[in-house]
Amino acid sequence: MLLTAARLSKVLQLTLAVIKPDAVAHPLMMEALHQRILENNFVIVRCRDLAWRKQDSERFYAEHSERFFYQRLVEFMSSGPMRAYILAREDAIRHWRELMGPTKVFRARYTSPASIRAQFGLTDTRNTTHGSDSPESAQREIGFFFPDFCAEEWMKKEEPSFRSGPIHYDHRNHVHSLSAPS
Ligand code: RTP
Ligand code: MG
Repeated sequence: MLLTAARLSKVLQLTLAVIKPDAVAHPLMMEALHQRILENNFVIVRCRDLAWRKQDSERFYAEHSERFFYQRLVEFMSSGPMRAYILAREDAIRHWRELMGPTKVFRARYTSPASIRAQFGLTDTRNTTHGSDSPESAQREIGFFFPDFCAEEWMKKEEPSFRSGPIHYDHRNHVHSLSAPS
């Protein structure tokens, strides 16, 4: 039996990545972050620019509501535009969090100087990016930002083709697709 590349490679995993308001405020920073995503072999499944009301921010970060930084965090996350991505890659959750680096910017600069937060982060709150921390949170967070996206259907119908390729990058919409953009 022939083993195709698709059968040999690992299943793609989905994660939710967000470029936070501190980075979106700077177009060059946003472009650099977008390039980092592409260079690191993530498939961009969806990309969406949006802004949160304070109640969206409170709902998303409800798990942190007892923490000292909660108010600061919800104010910040509803302070300006953001960009959200659904990314796919084998081990996407771990790879994206590794690329972001530690939550705290000064720790990131010390322990992971090449990481996104080390290079672009401003403070422990304004730390440039978000990434889901488990398959369960990825599922919840993808649903939060992309309510029309059905992860189960994507995994069943699209994942095998995106994994085996070829795939194309659509510069206009900032996403990958299976057919060349017209
Ligand atoms: P994220 O959820 O944004 O991907 O970051 P994370 O998992 O690395 O960090 P988490 O503990 O989930 O915290 C969520 C966000 O809260 C802000 N934060 N501020 N000491 C502080 O002031 C502090 N600690 C956390 C950050 O914006 C962090 O990303
Ligand atoms: Mg987190």
